[in-house]
Amino acid sequence: MLRLLLPLAALAALLRAANVPQRSFGIDYDCNCFVKDGEPFRYISGSIHYSRVPRYYWKDRLLKMKMAGLDAIQTYVPWNYHETQMGVYDFFGGKDLEYFLQLANEIGLLVILRAGPYICAEWDMGGLPAWLLEKKSIVLRSSDADYLAAVEKWMSVLLPKMRPYLYQNGGPIIMVQVENEYGSYFACDYNYLRFLLKLFRLHLGDEVVLFTTDGASQFHLKCGALQGLYATVDFAPGGNVTAAFLAQRSSEPKGPLVNSEFYTGWLDHWGHRHSVVPAQTIAKTLNEILARGANVNLYMFIGGTNFAYWNGANMPYMSQPTSYDYDAPLSEAGDLTEKYFALREVIGMYKQLPEGLIPPTTPKFAYGKVRLQKVGTVVEVLDGLSPSGPVKSTYPLTFVQLKQYFGFVLYRTTLPKNCTEPTELSSPLNGVHDRAYVSVDGVPQGVLERDKSLAINITGRAGANLDLLVENMGRVNFGRYNNDFKGLVSNLTLAQDILVGWEMYPLDIDGAVNYGIVSLFDQPERFVGNPLNDEVPTFYTGSLSIPGGIPDLPQDTYVSFPGWTKGQIWINGFNLGRYWPARGPQLTLYVPRNVLVSSVPNNITVLELERSPCSTQACEIEFVDEPNINATTQYESYDHQLFVRDMWLTHL
Ligand SMILES: *[C@@H]1O[C@H](CO)[C@@H](O)[C@H](O)[C@H]1NC(C)=O
Ligand SMILES: *[C@@H]1O[C@H](CO)[C@@H](O)[C@H](O)[C@H]1NC(C)=O
Ligand SMILES: *[C@@H]1O[C@H](CO)[C@@H](O)[C@H](O)[C@H]1NC(C)=O
Ligand SMILES: *[C@@H]1O[C@H](CO)[C@@H](O)[C@H](O)[C@H]1NC(C)=O
Ligand SMILES: *[C@@H]1O[C@H](CO)[C@@H](O)[C@H](O)[C@H]1NC(C)=O
Ligand SMILES: *[C@@H]1O[C@H](CO)[C@@H](O)[C@H](O)[C@H]1NC(C)=O
Repeated sequence: MLRLLLPLAALAALLRAANVPQRSFGIDYDCNCFVKDGEPFRYISGSIHYSRVPRYYWKDRLLKMKMAGLDAIQTYVPWNYHETQMGVYDFFGGKDLEYFLQLANEIGLLVILRAGPYICAEWDMGGLPAWLLEKKSIVLRSSDADYLAAVEKWMSVLLPKMRPYLYQNGGPIIMVQVENEYGSYFACDYNYLRFLLKLFRLHLGDEVVLFTTDGASQFHLKCGALQGLYATVDFAPGGNVTAAFLAQRSSEPKGPLVNSEFYTGWLDHWGHRHSVVPAQTIAKTLNEILARGANVNLYMFIGGTNFAYWNGANMPYMSQPTSYDYDAPLSEAGDLTEKYFALREVIGMYKQLPEGLIPPTTPKFAYGKVRLQKVGTVVEVLDGLSPSGPVKSTYPLTFVQLKQYFGFVLYRTTLPKNCTEPTELSSPLNGVHDRAYVSVDGVPQGVLERDKSLAINITGRAGANLDLLVENMGRVNFGRYNNDFKGLVSNLTLAQDILVGWEMYPLDIDGAVNYGIVSLFDQPERFVGNPLNDEVPTFYTGSLSIPGGIPDLPQDTYVSFPGWTKGQIWINGFNLGRYWPARGPQLTLYVPRNVLVSSVPNNITVLELERSPCSTQACEIEFVDEPNINATTQYESYDHQLFVRDMWLTHL
């Protein structure tokens, strides 16, 4: 950081001494425009989330954005990505936001910072840390005292870091967004927005442009806009641009027109068709926006990846897949697409495009099939996976009560009676958040799933262990169900009787994978095993050696899961994300080259939650050179169509 700060400070001093007008950025209400260094200024911006692109590729993606003719980038700051535990802050490596800002600055891109605290973004809990839910009754995004205290503390860490990067201080940040689409939230708490306004001013000063973003309608602006925060709108291509900007004018009779989220594509959900928005539709509306002299941010310019457990979800519960490709102009892997060139052409009609080469699409390599070997089941090594040991309670506790925020918890009790005949295990209040893989003494029984499968029949003898491995599939990121508790959030019944006497094992699977999962097992089931184990949550390992003699390896690749059902995959301890080919539409996961090494074999760990192909077919995964994120799925048309319509109406 010093590296940058000193020259910036020195530069500012020099400029002052030379009597050069200082860097400034603001709003001119007479010309209905922004002014930068005293000149009218219009920006064309694109969204990139540093949390969804490997640090290794930040520069490549930013350069491609610059070469598309963009003036600026827009990024979100996900609070829960940085304050993973209350009071523990992480800004290192891939979370080094300051380094990201420095890169943007060096490349000549301005930055529009969306600082939260809430960001939506199809990100777990809309960026709010799950530990906020330790106060069960907390009202998020409101004047709830505990919520405000946590926000105040976080912003007093984040915003002072950002201040040196403000434009007037020599950095790239021209504007800072406060909250996000607050007008779409039920609380409508102006005191909360006022609190944020004061807090942001306190840490960032009076000069920086603070703004809000809301759906382009008076309805959304009613609770989203606040005097002192410049109100901007968001809307999709294909709609009526005049009407959308008239909505902004209802809040801001004068000042620049801004679409802060102009959708280049759309999000996906597991089990629903991959979203595609044609380039021509976007190019046409972009042209209309620019012709009007308006400012625009293309959301997303590159979507990237929900690595590990970072995806969000919508209600009725549908979680988003690992890929956040978004059908954006740069693909998930940063590839130049037809859409990229179509939009660049439109931009080129309004400004001079930068000279020079566009960084080419990075090559992909098909490393081929990798054989995996079964290591053993989750239940076999519970103690190794749960260093803190089980927590006991009569009734089930939630993830936050167990201080486990992501991943998996194993809930165990014993069958209170003989279930010789199939007996109904049920979650009458729909309290399995989000999926539970059920077994009795190691014998698979089926899956319970939020909003989808609330009861299954099980069998087993009295006293047998009833195990539910409960998976957090990502917290709701939009709307009033944002306070999304995970685990067993209500009682389970067995033939009407409430089950009691639970032991809950918080699982540190990522820790165990890094340590070497095989070492947890006394006798890894290398070649033989109980075939039934292929249907309970089970670990598999394998290794991928990068072939020698081929220049420029390793390269990016995609991993596919022929015959596998659903699970999680790590390469060299890096959590690539969830795979779920049985549901789709995403069949392959993006593997950026930076997680691979060529000097020694790459260690692969797979946790298959339901059914592997290993006892019937080849026990392999395959590295291929093309993504497939738009496979046909058992398409659930009804609720999804309604949902998409609602979301689009929100944004039109
Ligand atoms: C777009 O909206 C404007 C303002 O509401 C209206 O005058 C115009 O007729 C609309 N255009 C179309 C094509 O619907
Ligand atoms: C369960 O069944 C076994 C024999 O099948 C019997 O010995 C045992 O007493 C039964 N237990 C209960 C609690 O009913
Ligand atoms: C459980 O089995 C009973 C009896 O066969 C059946 O009526 C019921 O529908 C089953 N429940 C589920 C959830 O499969
Ligand atoms: C389970 O049921 C008991 C008894 O009705 C109740 O006290 C408890 O709050 C319930 N627990 C949950 C997690 O719903
Ligand atoms: C894979 O695991 C082996 C054995 O633990 C280790 O020697 C090797 O360095 C690991 N490879 C990588 C790339 O970390
Ligand atoms: C996926 O996208 C490709 C390229 O646009 C297209 O050819 C293919 O038909 C799509 N598949 C599905 C199932 O939509």
